[in-house]
Amino acid sequence: MEYAAAAASAPPGWRHFTRRDIDRLPAAVHRHEMSKVPPEDVRMLEAGDPSAEERLLRAMFWTLTYHLEPERWDQLAQVEPVAPAIIEALPAVARALDVGAGAGRLTHHLEQRSEHVVAVEPSIGLIQLLRRRLPRVHAIAGWAESLPVRDGWSQLTAACGALGPDAVVLRELARVTCEGGVIALINPEEPEWFEARGWEVNEVAPATVKPHDRWIDEFFGPPDPPRFLVTKMKER
Ligand SMILES: C[S@@+](CC[C@H](N)C(=O)[O-])C[C@H]1O[C@@H](n2cnc3c(N)ncnc32)[C@H](O)[C@@H]1O
Repeated sequence: MEYAAAAASAPPGWRHFTRRDIDRLPAAVHRHEMSKVPPEDVRMLEAGDPSAEERLLRAMFWTLTYHLEPERWDQLAQVEPVAPAIIEALPAVARALDVGAGAGRLTHHLEQRSEHVVAVEPSIGLIQLLRRRLPRVHAIAGWAESLPVRDGWSQLTAACGALGPDAVVLRELARVTCEGGVIALINPEEPEWFEARGWEVNEVAPATVKPHDRWIDEFFGPPDPPRFLVTKMKER
């Protein structure tokens, strides 16, 4: 998501984090995220501008949560299940890849339908949760921009809530997917961008939100389970 849009749409929990938390991010994550800050904001941050600092904290809200408080994300993911209609629409394959797998909300379904599942996720805390829960899954630390997976390995390359229309990422998803394989993005950013470029977009009835503690609404805003499935077959 664009920096300004991420800052504008940050949930109320952004106030929980401070500039010091940004410095606590692992170095690779810090570099990756700071590369998205527009040059004008970089200059304002260097000058100590409080409005630029607020934009930074807002824009980094999700990153700060995934990396510094992974259990919080995990609790939200558990009250926002993936709709059964989305899972049923995915092809059953031998080799599946989950990109930006988090603590395994989607991976868990892939594991039940596939012999081999690889999960790629940059947050070490989330990978640890996933490994504990899904020991059969090969979970690797990594980024969608340079997937640690060989060309054509995956018959189903999936991501849930993790990706958007980024040319580098889309090239990587295509690279790791075999000919005739499927790329399936659940709730990507800007589904209309994909539709306009020939991807199949289906909107389904979302799963029912699970009963949950009030802090989840206060921190993340109202839960909103995934509802879009965006797919494309890699041509032979
Ligand atoms: C909304 S969470 C979804 C997690 C999981 N797919 C699920 O459905 O529960 C987004 C996930 O994408 C990961 N992520 C963010 N940027 C990424 C990138 N560039 N490459 C790979 N994963 C990324 C985050 O660390 C986070 O775990």
